[in-house]
Amino acid sequence: MKPRVFVTRRIPEAGLSRIRAACDADIWTERLPPPYETIRERIKDCEGLVSLLTDRIDGPLLDAAPRLKVVSNFAVGFNNVDVPACTARGVCVGNTPGALTDATADCAFMLLIAAARRLAEGILDVRGGRWLTWEPVGYLGLDLAGKTLGVVGMGRIGYALAQRCRGGWGMNVLYHDVQPSPKAESDLGARRVELDELLRQSDFISMHAALTPENRHLIGDAQFRLMKKTAVFVNTARGPLVDQAALYRALTSGTIFAAGLDVTDPEPPDPKDPLLQLPNVVIAPHLASATVSTRDGMAEICADNLIAGVTGQPLRAWVNPEVAAKRR
Ligand code: GLV
Repeated sequence: MKPRVFVTRRIPEAGLSRIRAACDADIWTERLPPPYETIRERIKDCEGLVSLLTDRIDGPLLDAAPRLKVVSNFAVGFNNVDVPACTARGVCVGNTPGALTDATADCAFMLLIAAARRLAEGILDVRGGRWLTWEPVGYLGLDLAGKTLGVVGMGRIGYALAQRCRGGWGMNVLYHDVQPSPKAESDLGARRVELDELLRQSDFISMHAALTPENRHLIGDAQFRLMKKTAVFVNTARGPLVDQAALYRALTSGTIFAAGLDVTDPEPPDPKDPLLQLPNVVIAPHLASATVSTRDGMAEICADNLIAGVTGQPLRAWVNPEVAAKRR
């Protein structure tokens, strides 16, 4: 008998076909995520679960699935999964690192340059018939060449953004991370600094840290006040790293120049949120990894993690390898 698994959304066929071949798969095909109670109900007899970043996977949910061996998250970030609760129950957790590094760094750069060059405001003016003529001092934005990029979280994606900015625009790179990155330092001349120094000195600040309970609202009023008035703030990591009300204040008070966001808190934002109306913010709908080949690559890793989890093999990308000795 094939192991039973629940897949909380239709992921690309590149992964789904592997899952169907190896497992008895129950696939949620609605556009919106299954409610928490539905997941709880559907995983009762399952050995595997494919979750998305929109699914909360916590202790009480796991307690409803005594046979569950693996949670394979279709994302590199796994803040939606209570990993210690999984480990305590002998459940493996997988994620999809690597596959989305370039696509996400591309998106961070897209937002950086769009915010620096006031693209969102310009597009709205063109569409709304407010673009009247070529003006010598109209739509003045910021240059990139030779400026300073501050990377908060020098992991794979932070490095890939720094590589683009260093190689293409000759930027100086500062970074803040609990771990030093000798590679970023030797390849890109990056310098590791305290967060406050990074915020004070950078022209472009880009968030690439994993969201944890400790770094929620890492960037708030006090941090925006340290930034240059010309700073561009970019977030492609997770919305709750930033106090969004403080970001609104910073953008409306001239404390910073502009922001580019691929993530918000909550997602999607309330359409009435005044942040959405600001001319100096460009907001994308969490699409950084949304390229055909990237999502295929994520689906393949996700399927491999799931299948390894239900067959007792080491996961291809294993968030909690310490569970190995006591996995179900
Ligand atoms: C997307 O946000 C991911 O974590 O993969």
